Amino acid sequence: MNMKVKNTSQNMKDIIKLQPKITVQGKVVPFENNEQTLLDCLESANIEVHYHCRDGFCGACRVTLVTGEINYPLGEPLAFVGENEILPCCCVPVTDISIAIDE
Ligand code: FES
Repeated sequence: MNMKVKNTSQNMKDIIKLQPKITVQGKVVPFENNEQTLLDCLESANIEVHYHCRDGFCGACRVTLVTGEINYPLGEPLAFVGENEILPCCCVPVTDISIAIDE
């Protein structure tokens, strides 16, 4: 019997994970897969953002989204946010984003 073995080896590295980039204060920071929120990402890059509740209630962490898209994985936060404002403590970037932090 003549058998042919097909080479179906799959390289795990072929599975590309999305790693959005955050542009802020002249820096470009990658959003790592192990980071839960945009606030975690900014903190690990030593970018200072005000925060209080870290849960979408107080609005203290609000920053301006200049370009790109974010998502709130746990649903829309309760804190008030103005147009183009986002809450880094409870959002994740879904595209490359650019944000502005008020001093
Ligand atoms: S820290 Fe309170 S809403 Fe983000």
